[in-house]
Amino acid sequence: MAKYFTLNNGAKIPSVGLGTWQAEPGVVGEAVIAAVKAGYRHIDCARAYKNEEEVGLALKKLFDDGLVKREELFITSKLWCSDHAPEDVPMALDSTLKELQLDYVDLYLIHWPFRVKKGTSISPENFVQPDIPGTWEAMEKLYDSGKAHAIGVSNFSSKKLENLLAIARVPPAVNQVECHPCWQQTKLHALCQSTGVHLSAYSPLGSPGTTWIKGSNILTNPTVSTIAEKLGKTPAQVALRWGLQMGHSVLPKSTNETRIKENLEIFDWSIPEDLFVKFSEIEQARLIRGNFVVHPQSIYKSVEELWDGEI
Ligand code: A2P
Repeated sequence: MAKYFTLNNGAKIPSVGLGTWQAEPGVVGEAVIAAVKAGYRHIDCARAYKNEEEVGLALKKLFDDGLVKREELFITSKLWCSDHAPEDVPMALDSTLKELQLDYVDLYLIHWPFRVKKGTSISPENFVQPDIPGTWEAMEKLYDSGKAHAIGVSNFSSKKLENLLAIARVPPAVNQVECHPCWQQTKLHALCQSTGVHLSAYSPLGSPGTTWIKGSNILTNPTVSTIAEKLGKTPAQVALRWGLQMGHSVLPKSTNETRIKENLEIFDWSIPEDLFVKFSEIEQARLIRGNFVVHPQSIYKSVEELWDGEI
């Protein structure tokens, strides 16, 4: 298993990245340093996570200490929903670059397919109609400028990704979505395969620490645990290795050094075919449903509309 996947523009995305969503300020910097020391070369960030400044300080320390060079790292960040106006897109990236103390990101994503008024939070009165083609054109200009070495989207259903592919001058390189053995994204996976868009998996462990997430726990799922036991691996490693064998990059979040290392030890073994087929028996449920976007005043009146029926 290669440690990289090649994107549709020729760039290489490391197949395991450190997730930083819900990595609290005060610990995220140490986690980034521990991850890079352990061998991670990919850090998944977002302005909405409110911790990019601390990630930036950690990156600077790593560069200053000579532990890694900028060009050896793959840094992703995301455009938040209040910055979708074409004129705000370059400013949003500049703010992220300033906080991360970088000249460019390796990948810049539209974080969600919805929009709120500039400078406002997610609240019913703030929703405005998104204009994905307009926002995408601004993303394409960032790609042309070299400030984003690749551009893509996040949380796009198959239908929304197809709509974007139909109008894009620069096709999205990545769609970063929830994906794990209990939400395998079968339809989107097939679309990504046939169109050359790389699927990157967030919450690849099902975010077991997130209390508001209701539903299956991947780490205690009987199929996953049985396979883990047979292979002498942890359920987390099996869930992540499943992602790699599906062709997805995986972005496990951890701020614990032992688990950070554990989550990278998934390259020198594989899930054999007879066990791999068992994943198709796992009951499927989307865990991150996006209820916070659904409201009578939002463009999405139901969870079904947000995901175009893929729930
Ligand atoms: P922690 O940061 O304390 O390690 P996801 O990436 O799916 O969002 O999951 C992140 C959650 O899973 C966090 O609560 C994280 O806690 C926990 N976690 C990360 N790696 C492992 C692991 N190898 N085993 C068990 N839990 C893990």
